[in-house]
Amino acid sequence: MSEAKESLTNKTVNHIGKNVKIGRNVKIWHFTYIGENTRIGHDVKIGSLAHIDYNVKIGDNTKIEAMVYIPPRTVIGRNVFIGPGAIFTNDPYPPSKKMVGVTVEDGAVICAGALVKAGVTIGRNSVVAMGAVVVKDVPPNTVVMGVPAVKKGNREEYDKKRFKWET
Ligand SMILES: CC(C)(COP(=O)(O)OP(=O)(O)OC[C@H]1O[C@@H](n2cnc3c(N)ncnc32)[C@H](O)[C@@H]1OP(=O)(O)O)[C@@H](O)C(=O)NCCC(=O)NCCS
Repeated sequence: MSEAKESLTNKTVNHIGKNVKIGRNVKIWHFTYIGENTRIGHDVKIGSLAHIDYNVKIGDNTKIEAMVYIPPRTVIGRNVFIGPGAIFTNDPYPPSKKMVGVTVEDGAVICAGALVKAGVTIGRNSVVAMGAVVVKDVPPNTVVMGVPAVKKGNREEYDKKRFKWET
């Protein structure tokens, strides 16, 4: 393999910590950090420059785009989409000694550049709009937008727009 090609392989450009478990058919792009004890399910895709810290759980078929920050103790379900540059936090009053992760339930969509406060739960199939700052739990099937994020719709309406866009 040429030097240029070799530099594009995962081994040379990614950090994978100790005791990380990675499922089948996982695609990890370049310059990604994965901290120790993190669990990644099957068919997960992780974009370039993503930082996924220690003790994180990621469910099957979840897609994490480039430049996403996922701190320790975050729990992400299955079939979740996380757009580029989304940031989760785990310390509400830094630098504190007490951390609490974000939970993202199955099927949720976190759009580009969203920020999520420590300890928040994003409910099943909910949508967080691009640029939103989420400071409170989001109930299932809810679309939230803005700073701070508030309810602006539901998942059924979002899916209708998505299918119309696609067809
Ligand atoms: C949530 C989202 C789908 C809403 O888009 P939409 O339904 O087409 O919304 P519209 O453009 O029709 O706007 C509807 C209203 O919401 C507002 N709005 C739309 N997106 C908003 C956002 N991200 N934050 C705050 N307000 C927003 C609009 O200003 C408009 O307000 P108005 O009715 O007072 O004029 C879109 O903002 C989004 O986040 N898309 C995902 C992009 C992304 O991250 N892609 C990832 C891969 S690149």
